[in-house]
Amino acid sequence: MSDDPRHPFLQGLSKHRGTPPTVIVIFGASGDLTARKLIPAIFNLAYDNLLPADFFLVGYGRKDIPHEEFRGIALGAIKEFSRRELNAEVWNRVAANTTYIAGGYDEPEAFRRLAAHIESLEKTLGRDVQTLFYISTPPSVFAPILRNLGACGLAARHLGNSLHTKVIIEKPFGKDLESAVALNGVIREVLEEHQVYRIDHYLGKETVQDLLVQRFSNSIFEPLWNRNYIDHVQITVSEEVGVGTRGGYYEQSGALRDMIQNHTMQLVALTAMEPPVSLDAEAVRNEKVKVLKAIQPLDLAPGGDVVRAQYASGMIGGKGARGYLDEDGIAAQSGTETYAAIRLSINNWRWQGVPFYLRSGKRMARRVTEIAVQFKRPPGTLFAEGGRFDLAPNTLSFQIQPDEGLSLILNGKVPGLETRTQPVKMNFRYSATYGSNTPEAYERLVLDAMIGDGTLFIRGDEAETSWKLYTPVLKAWAAAGREGMDSYPAGSWGPPGAESLMAKTGHVWRQP
Ligand code: BG6
Repeated sequence: MSDDPRHPFLQGLSKHRGTPPTVIVIFGASGDLTARKLIPAIFNLAYDNLLPADFFLVGYGRKDIPHEEFRGIALGAIKEFSRRELNAEVWNRVAANTTYIAGGYDEPEAFRRLAAHIESLEKTLGRDVQTLFYISTPPSVFAPILRNLGACGLAARHLGNSLHTKVIIEKPFGKDLESAVALNGVIREVLEEHQVYRIDHYLGKETVQDLLVQRFSNSIFEPLWNRNYIDHVQITVSEEVGVGTRGGYYEQSGALRDMIQNHTMQLVALTAMEPPVSLDAEAVRNEKVKVLKAIQPLDLAPGGDVVRAQYASGMIGGKGARGYLDEDGIAAQSGTETYAAIRLSINNWRWQGVPFYLRSGKRMARRVTEIAVQFKRPPGTLFAEGGRFDLAPNTLSFQIQPDEGLSLILNGKVPGLETRTQPVKMNFRYSATYGSNTPEAYERLVLDAMIGDGTLFIRGDEAETSWKLYTPVLKAWAAAGREGMDSYPAGSWGPPGAESLMAKTGHVWRQP
């Protein structure tokens, strides 16, 4: 028996993974993301012994909160949101090195105090530490934070050795191409690209990482992974939730910015990219950028490549649900889409002529994220019944969440004296093989940033390439207002326009 107390599939993995002594500073320390994701991630990393022995947590925010009160807030967050129950001994170790600094984001003096605080931690410890800044604030203060990190010398701390400063930047990374380019410009004023970790939390999901493992560690897939055998790919990222209390944010965002441009495009890139020469961050990201650049500009005409819609009232889980326009904080004639469907054409050797269909929406029938790769039908009519050739196409689907797993639809013979075919499903479920308490995305991402592994983060040119594709769509939609906005009842699989988008090429959306 192993003496490693961690979950069986973490056993044998090296602890600490060489993580240097670290101080994590969270900007936006009293915000929602800090409570729901960041503090629980830090607690779970501590639980798994994956934090360095010398680890400090500094909360930074506008509110004036005494150290002790911040520790109390963090404790509450672990109790409420952690995937594991609180373990007082583990938390006390982290809490002993947890402090809070109050300050504005455009206040150079406060940043100097922060710098002095970090230096005093180093002094007490008697050795240098690396600083990881986590910018988890509204995007309006990303630029002032970055500039202040530059101005007070924090950005360049230990630059040139392995303890150099690192900065994690939460989404949204810009709201269109222009703002993403501007933000990258501010970043370049104060940081080198290797110091920057742009978050897309989908990359931290186990199943998203498994995509590359499935594709490149199984020799049965690669020979088939191209236009000769694949008919089309469908990616669904649907949610049951509506906009809830986030109406103010969502009105400025919409499904295209909130889900398609970032999370869904990461799924496209990982499904479609060429094999990288190594798993090194640059090798992987070079291939992702290459395939994103091969995507053709979208046809924005009615009946073209894009569909947008808003949810109307309907039923979710047996209960009535309001339409988008009746939600709190939503303009009466809002032109914000809660659903988008897109057809992508990737113009390269591997994918020419293979459409990639994407759809994402709020208030849909079920929460599911799935990538379904549909293969071409086999030739011939051996199993045609009454002249009808209706074998189901083989479909490989990656179930990203929930019920994480992988399934393959094959045709088989129905037992009996006649020869009748029927689609059958081979299933792999993570929970059945590994148990259900897998690390959360943010645990992996925080750990990787501490270690300095940027593979699961977005590079500057990657963000810009994706915005370049979608900015014309955003502009066209903004100019059109509500004209051309389709509608779907809450609790359904989307608007009729999305069915037509597929029907033009003889395809239909799968029922995930
Ligand atoms: C966030 C979006 O990035 O992702 C939310 O802003 C969305 O609107 C969320 O609900 C979905 O994330 P997950 O991990 O629950 O699929």
